[in-house]
Amino acid sequence: MTQRLTIRRPDDWHVHLRDGAMLEAVLPWTARQFGRAIVMPNLDPPVTDMARARAYRERIHATLPEGAGFQPLMTCYLTDRTDPDDLALGHAEGVFTAAKLYPAGATTNSAHGVTDIANIRPVLERMERIGMPLLVHGEVTDPEIDIFDREAVFLERVLAPLRRDFPALNVVLEHVTTAEGVAFVEEGGSGLAATITPHHLIINRNALFAGGLRPHAYCLPVAKRERHRLALRRAATSGSARFFLGTDSAPHTVERKESACGCAGVWNAPFALEAYTAVFDAEGALDRLEAFSSENGPRFYGLPLNSGTVTLERSAGMVPERIGEVVPFGAGESFGWSLAADA
Ligand code: NCD
Ligand code: ZN
Repeated sequence: MTQRLTIRRPDDWHVHLRDGAMLEAVLPWTARQFGRAIVMPNLDPPVTDMARARAYRERIHATLPEGAGFQPLMTCYLTDRTDPDDLALGHAEGVFTAAKLYPAGATTNSAHGVTDIANIRPVLERMERIGMPLLVHGEVTDPEIDIFDREAVFLERVLAPLRRDFPALNVVLEHVTTAEGVAFVEEGGSGLAATITPHHLIINRNALFAGGLRPHAYCLPVAKRERHRLALRRAATSGSARFFLGTDSAPHTVERKESACGCAGVWNAPFALEAYTAVFDAEGALDRLEAFSSENGPRFYGLPLNSGTVTLERSAGMVPERIGEVVPFGAGESFGWSLAADA
């Protein structure tokens, strides 16, 4: 049985680092595991232009622990009024790595999101031309659609037409949660990929109601039925280069989670690699962890692979019940692995 596993340093292709005191609390955890991360722009107010992205990136750099070799990759929050010139300039100047499409109202701080794809056609045309990836929160917001069906309906109503209209646009279906999403990506061409979170690989929707209402298992897109979780595990461990690591780590304080109207988001940053490793181990696919975590993402984005390594060791180490003001994913449990050292 493998006791130690050394892999190329991974990246997190989807993370919420927040701002201010929360940024200070959570950034060291992500920087400790990952070489780079795609930083989500859903601050309040959102990161909608180059100036805001530059300023946010500086705040992240200023918050990084001494000597951390971590690189934040910034994204632009698309709105109905995104300026294609600012976006393209931001991409050319290395400020924006990608742009994020939040359907208006889909999730935390998405009120400024796009109300109709038709409103951002010139933006998408430009992104397609300059080779800038589009990252999508793949859920419709139509209140008539059952919350567990919102991803599948998004594929039909939004993503399929978008792929037809912009065939050369590189698209990442973020935090895919359904068998339909997995199939859509598998059937798509080389310009379509998906990130998969550790929590969607580990929990299904029963976790939301296990012995009572469980706010710390609530995120968006919400966890689905068991068959979907199994489809995600198959996709992640399949060896396909179009699925890669994206934690969607999304911290909220205990107070904001344990509430009559609790916020969506799972904070998995402290033990993200441990969680993924446990999944690949259980699936007999430890030999595929490195491609999923450290190779498929940079190749899709056209970025170099990281040069350092990380080592995971089998361990009975427990996830603390709480870290500061936030409850981490897996609290009070062990993933059976722990991050040993990096080189
Ligand atoms: C995210 C957040 O809190 O910012 N929440 C979540 O449940 N994933 C927003 C998002 O990515 O949907
Ligand atoms: Zn997210």
